[in-house]
Amino acid sequence: MQSRTQYARVEQVDKLLVVGSGKGGVGKSTVSVNLAISLAKHGATVGLLDGDAYGPSIPIMLGIRKRTASSGTEATLPFAERKNIPQAQKIKPLVRYGVKIMSVGFFIGEEQAVAPIPDVLGLLILQLLYSVDWGKLDYLIIDLPPGTSEPQATLCREMQLNGAVLVTTPQDIARIDTAKALAMFQNVHVPVLGVVQNMDGFVCPHCGERAEIFPRSQEARNLLDELPLLGSIPLDPVAVVNSDKGHPIIVSMPESPVAQAFRSMTANVVAALDTRKTAPEREMSDVQEEGKCTMIKEETDLDDRKD
Ligand SMILES: Nc1ncnc2c1ncn2[C@@H]1O[C@H](COP(=O)(O)OP(=O)(O)O)[C@@H](O)[C@H]1O
Ligand SMILES: [Mg+2]
Repeated sequence: MQSRTQYARVEQVDKLLVVGSGKGGVGKSTVSVNLAISLAKHGATVGLLDGDAYGPSIPIMLGIRKRTASSGTEATLPFAERKNIPQAQKIKPLVRYGVKIMSVGFFIGEEQAVAPIPDVLGLLILQLLYSVDWGKLDYLIIDLPPGTSEPQATLCREMQLNGAVLVTTPQDIARIDTAKALAMFQNVHVPVLGVVQNMDGFVCPHCGERAEIFPRSQEARNLLDELPLLGSIPLDPVAVVNSDKGHPIIVSMPESPVAQAFRSMTANVVAALDTRKTAPEREMSDVQEEGKCTMIKEETDLDDRKD
């Protein structure tokens, strides 16, 4: 394998961020959308790449629907060489709420399934990074699928990632998987900016009392617990309706507690990136073995239940 001394960057993109978690349904796409729009509202130039080929939610969350299935060549993603793609051949992103958007969902119908082999997902994401005409961006955010497989492994291996934002819900079953995602990023020295605790309590719209939806984990997870808490986002049923109909909460209900929580999360993400400004960028030599991204070696330590 050819040795490289540097990770790749996307031309004209200042900060490349990923939003990830070990688990599905915890709110990665919701966090990505509201983070992107919130940054744009503060005057930043922002791109949002939907990296979830199996369940691209970004188009729907931003009100971009493609109800009919694609067929034949139409279903084929435009091919691009890795770099130096002529400007005229680049794909134009869509712009919604001041954010440049690209998603695999733009090329397939919303009920059409894609079944690429995992390795292809990594190439697909690189292709979208390089072949989209992002222009000059302060932030490019990638909304990742759950887990520690592809395209996460390829991104970790190839790209200079300036920060990862982890999203979890309070219960242990989500936190365990989020801890795995954390280990994946830490193994390859991707700076993890912190964790966003989503669906963290529910404020009753009738009585105003706060209730826990998920049983709060009683188990300490040292690495996860040490991370800065970037945001604590309450669960709001109205947020689901709005957001799944293409009206992100930060725009549709800017004064709601959820929108306020997303604004303070955004400020924390920016601050976390600022404090890292002086930190050295990760070098290839920091990673002992290429491809270690997906391999987490742990001693087997199974609890032996007696019941
Ligand atoms: N804080 C929240 N309050 C209410 N609904 C939420 C909240 N966060 C996410 N949701 C809803 O939960 C579902 C899953 O969220 P999504 O962002 O798609 O998760 P993921 O990307 O992790 O799979 C969506 O219907 C979304 O609207
Ligand atoms: Mg998602």
